Amino acid sequence: ECNYVLLHTGQKMPLLGLGTWKSAPGQVKEAVKYALGAGYRHIDCATAYSNEAEIGEAFQEAVGPDKPVKREELFVTSKLWNTKHHPEDVEPSLRKSLEDLKLDYLDLYLVHWPHAFERGDNLFPKNPDGRMRFDYTDYKETWKAMEKLVEKGLVKAVGLSNFNSRQIDGVLGMAAVKPAVLQVECHPYLAQTELIAHCHKRGLVVTPYSPLGSPDRMWKHPDEPVLLEEPGIKQLAEKYGKSPAQIILRWQVQRKVVTVPKSVTPARLQQNLQVFDFSLTEEEMSSIRSLNKNWRYIVPMITVDGKLVARDAGHPLYPF
Ligand code: A2P
Repeated sequence: ECNYVLLHTGQKMPLLGLGTWKSAPGQVKEAVKYALGAGYRHIDCATAYSNEAEIGEAFQEAVGPDKPVKREELFVTSKLWNTKHHPEDVEPSLRKSLEDLKLDYLDLYLVHWPHAFERGDNLFPKNPDGRMRFDYTDYKETWKAMEKLVEKGLVKAVGLSNFNSRQIDGVLGMAAVKPAVLQVECHPYLAQTELIAHCHKRGLVVTPYSPLGSPDRMWKHPDEPVLLEEPGIKQLAEKYGKSPAQIILRWQVQRKVVTVPKSVTPARLQQNLQVFDFSLTEEEMSSIRSLNKNWRYIVPMITVDGKLVARDAGHPLYPF
């Protein structure tokens, strides 16, 4: 079975990659080395995860002409952080990621979020009262600077993350270099059916993040639904002799969306790759899709009368 999708650039993007958000320094180097040894050929990184230098150490040891993994076999993504949207900051920011990752090009560089924060090296610039300090750089200006990175050969493709359909069309309407990928939160509780169809119609590949519902998030609420405990998923896991995580990942790759589960645990890293040796029936695919409740884990949780409610992602300051 084919385990990659083609981007409009002609690049092969492996359907299953390794996520590195929340992978702690002291753990991520070993996790990436283990993953490369186990057969992962797609690693999803970002400046904002503050661990690219350590991931670079793993690449330095395992990737190269005389190393187990050849650079051209590996698909590496990184993301431009919100404080670097000013057109003058885009190339220096990419160059810092390349230096940290010890690579001379990226396969894919994403604009991490549509909105910009105040320029500078503080990842989360805030007012004394705790509110974020925003900047008004238009993401279309940022996009023009992203395109130059492709022209210079520093990145093979560029794309978007956390953009909604209106924003995606805004970029497509002015782009000389089209975005190849949209990365967004997506899992059975947030199936994103319309957004995926919107992207596929326009030639963008979709990469769901937090495919397992990010059980290791720093913010959690006792009332929130736990994806890996979902009875509908557990039942299928029993039927196929697979884990709930494998059922969820299989659902994503079977509908041709790329997925990047994070793990730093060898047994789970192995397990998460083993999703190409079985398939779900059409009925099971749609039964998983019908678990959708438009539930977002990656927003600051708010409570109303003590009850947890998912916040409207249309809020202009979403998600901060
Ligand atoms: P760990 O890294 O300790 O192995 P997401 O990709 O949705 O953000 O989820 C990442 C979280 O899910 C991490 O806490 C990770 O734990 C855990 N995880 C990864 N793979 C599995 C798996 N196969 N079964 C259960 N939990 C998993």
